Amino acid sequence: MRAVLITTLVLSAALGLSACGFGEQGISVSEDSPDYRGAELFAANCAGCHTLTPAGAEGTGNRGTRVQGPNLDQRVETFESALYAIENGGYSGAIMPQNIVVGDDARQVARFVARYAGKAAGE
Ligand code: HEC
Repeated sequence: MRAVLITTLVLSAALGLSACGFGEQGISVSEDSPDYRGAELFAANCAGCHTLTPAGAEGTGNRGTRVQGPNLDQRVETFESALYAIENGGYSGAIMPQNIVVGDDARQVARFVARYAGKAAGE
């Protein structure tokens, strides 16, 4: 009985570890970075419609659907413009839902976008 319990504990510990290692696939921002949370939030909330490589997001790749947003690797955004887009649903107020993330989460995503968007734009 005791052996079974120990085996179970060891197994779940091993599973837990591997979940940490492979959980957030594709995010290239370091987990120590203050932008990591923003990258995670972007991956969870925005990746369906936007490409942004540091978040592992390739949403723009599926251009078949009209809801696809701009490829953010190719757009330079400021903190203000990103936050504006989040609060207003893009710049046009159409298609992109408003306030998918709010408050501090919105600011974290906006800061992440401002820092990492536009890397492929050739500034
Ligand atoms: C349902 C699809 C969808 C989701 C989800 C979505 N967007 Fe968008 N987004 C769009 C579309 C479509 C546009 C372009 C139209 C517009 O600007 O109104 C856009 C525009 C933008 C722009 C302006 C880009 C530019 O330079 O024109 C930014 C910045 C942006 N989105 C960020 C985000 C962030 C951050 C999230 C997650 C919190 C997000 N989007 C979630 C569809 C989406």
